[in-house]
Amino acid sequence: MKVAVFSTKPYDRLFLDAANEADGGRHQLHYLAAGLTEQTAPLANGAGAVCAFVNDHLDRPALEVLAAGGTRLLALRSAGYNNVDLKAANELGLSVARVPSYSPHAIAEHSVALMLSLNRKIHRAYARVREGNFSLEGLLGFDMRGRAVGIVGTGQIGMAVAGILSGFGCRLLAYDPAPDPGLTALGGRYVELPELLSGADVITLHCPLTPATRHMIGADAVAMMKPGVMLINTSRGAVVDTAAVIAGLKSGKIGYLGLDVYEEEEGLFFEDMSAKMIQDDVFARLLTFPNVLITGHQGFFTKEALEGIARTTIANLSTFEQSGRVAHQLSAVA
Ligand code: NAI
Repeated sequence: MKVAVFSTKPYDRLFLDAANEADGGRHQLHYLAAGLTEQTAPLANGAGAVCAFVNDHLDRPALEVLAAGGTRLLALRSAGYNNVDLKAANELGLSVARVPSYSPHAIAEHSVALMLSLNRKIHRAYARVREGNFSLEGLLGFDMRGRAVGIVGTGQIGMAVAGILSGFGCRLLAYDPAPDPGLTALGGRYVELPELLSGADVITLHCPLTPATRHMIGADAVAMMKPGVMLINTSRGAVVDTAAVIAGLKSGKIGYLGLDVYEEEEGLFFEDMSAKMIQDDVFARLLTFPNVLITGHQGFFTKEALEGIARTTIANLSTFEQSGRVAHQLSAVA
């Protein structure tokens, strides 16, 4: 099948080519550096499938162009699908496949890396030592053991985080409308969201972005948190209201903030912006806090995760080509 692969980087090509070859090389993958928008959608003309990533715009106008150009399958190289207008896709007869699972450990381990780096101030210690400054002033951390960690969303990633932190001896609080019985085996306990927010020393977000979770962490939520709380977000940027979190940082209510995702990350993350002026003043303000650590959506970026994404994406394309169906169909009600 001819596939237009949007938002590709060299590493995407490497892993997709290897997975395609392992599957008999049946797909013609046309790699495009451009992101998918209504304006770039004509680049996919004649491609039966379009392969897209997290910041591609699969909105109605773009989908209409794709459908008119002969596309029948949208194969997402991601687990999240908040960037797809599923209703429009269904109405236009476009099937939507995603990668529901690929090494949740990649994102879970990155979340814990943010926690430990912020706690022990590794980002500051690294810079100090390189400048010959071996003072420990300002680098005081705390033991993770015995701390209450609140996990919002105990799906695959949240449960992997729970597994790691139970090994650290943390007390686990969790909130999820669909609880996982496995959490109790790890010594964790489900509570309502306000109890989690007010009882946790560290709060880590692992829910999808939906209308219900958009700005779930806003001013009201921040007000409920313990003074000096650590907040980690590796889910989707818009789960957090950035303005509310900045106010919390300024007042000292939020003691540590670790982000791998940002509401307005599109056009910023995944690109080398080092020689450009950052135009987003909210993001620039975040960068000024010494207790904020931001990574550019790299939670998924491990060898195992990229192999998993590529393998499932190629399998999704092959299944659709053979049967006209997809293994992990998403519908508007999902
Ligand atoms: P999952 O579908 O296995 O788990 C999501 C969990 O969130 C489910 O248990 C669900 O019941 C729960 N949930 C739904 N609504 C909720 C709410 N209102 N409050 C609390 N929990 C709620 O998904 P998985 O694989 O664990 O991924 C979670 C999210 O992580 C994805 O939706 C995606 O946005 C993000 N992600 C980020 C990556 C990164 O590179 N930073 C990579 C992969 C995923």
